[in-house]
Amino acid sequence: MESTIKVNDKVFKVFIKADTIDAAIQKLADSINKDTSEELPLFLVVLNGAFMFAADLLKRVTVECNVSFVKLASYSGTQSTNQVRELIGLNESIKGRSVIVLEDIIDTGNTLNVLLNSLRAYEAGKVRIATLLYKPDAFQGDYAIDYVGIEIPNDFIIGYGLDYDGFARNLPDIYKIVD
Ligand code: IMP
Ligand code: MG
Repeated sequence: MESTIKVNDKVFKVFIKADTIDAAIQKLADSINKDTSEELPLFLVVLNGAFMFAADLLKRVTVECNVSFVKLASYSGTQSTNQVRELIGLNESIKGRSVIVLEDIIDTGNTLNVLLNSLRAYEAGKVRIATLLYKPDAFQGDYAIDYVGIEIPNDFIIGYGLDYDGFARNLPDIYKIVD
């Protein structure tokens, strides 16, 4: 693993290593397994960023469940924008279902706010949120986040699903921007 990498015009350094990510995911899986064994939950993965987290988490989820995907986008370059675009919508029957939303990272919280409104409109049952990463200093939402893997400062990061202009999603470790 390189400790410093360049992606397009920016330099990033290693921030969270794969084994730390792995341990955080195991803890999340343990909690989710304990809380949802009776519910037949529907895991709703927010693409693109959450694909790697979802794959690693769901391999450790032992409760009977369904898995589906939505695609939302709000980030442009290294900035969150207020405009959230729904690129692939909800296509499962959501009404009355216990839903667990899987996110790679919650920053301002705008993206999930849009998704939570849709879930309400479709009359979902109990909705929980599980995110691998959370930036508490950036969060502006007024909803609770049920499961948080790792809290991080308000810095731009890449790797493990997270991208900078489409690059670096494939990296197994998480890197932080060097400014
Ligand atoms: P929010 O709407 O501001 O909460 O941003 C959430 C979405 O923006 C996440 O699902 C990510 O896809 C993306 N995002 C937020 N912070 C970062 C970051 O530091 N690096 C890469 N993508 C990010
Ligand atoms: Mg995301």
